[in-house]
Amino acid sequence: MRGKKYRVGCEEGLTKKWLRERKYDTYHRRAKEDGFRSRAIYKLFQISKPHNLIKTGDTVVDLGSFPGGWIQGARLLVGEEGFVLGIDLKPIKAFSWSNVKTLVGDITSLEEDEIREALPRKADVIISDVSPNLSGIWEVDHARQMDLARKSVELARALLHRGGNLIVKAFQGESFKEFLDEVKARFRSVKIVKPKASRKRSAEVYIVARGYNLNRGK
Ligand SMILES: C[S@@+](CC[C@H](N)C(=O)[O-])C[C@H]1O[C@@H](n2cnc3c(N)ncnc32)[C@H](O)[C@@H]1O
Repeated sequence: MRGKKYRVGCEEGLTKKWLRERKYDTYHRRAKEDGFRSRAIYKLFQISKPHNLIKTGDTVVDLGSFPGGWIQGARLLVGEEGFVLGIDLKPIKAFSWSNVKTLVGDITSLEEDEIREALPRKADVIISDVSPNLSGIWEVDHARQMDLARKSVELARALLHRGGNLIVKAFQGESFKEFLDEVKARFRSVKIVKPKASRKRSAEVYIVARGYNLNRGK
């Protein structure tokens, strides 16, 4: 990726060309028509549905959730019995669902207890689409993304119950393999998923990890 142009699926990296392309993007149009806050919701459906990762009644924590597409997707999957907590640096426009809460905060410095207090019970699934402000310098952006991905795993360890699941965005690059091994050490099964709605030339992939702490004692 060094020296090459690259893209990620987050509005942090807006350019005129990217905005023009977005106008003609099928998922972007579909999200508008369906009343969703971002095209990213289709990535969540494409990752979660085939593996039944988020189920009716689940408690879900969404890290890096502005403007709220994944929150909407998670709420549709968990239904009325479930609960969704979204966290972002930016304030998220309120939802009318009573079982959706949001927190404004930095996931790298928020107290774990503050997150726990906002939850009705331990989480079943942590989902993280968090992305840094992009500098356009691959090495810098990759390192920042991987720091946020690592933080997401740390929070998953604090918030998930045994057997819970994790979906976390990562950029494929230098420290990817090491990160993957860290996740594998904590979860029973780990897969790399590139959903159709993720732009092909984007470096982003999602790590889907199931069964938190179920591989202990192997
Ligand atoms: C790709 S966007 C998320 C899109 C969202 N999943 C959706 O469906 O609408 C990534 C988000 O990560 C947030 N973010 C970046 N660094 C963060 C941090 N340290 N703590 C919390 N949120 C962060 C950004 O503000 C941005 O809104």
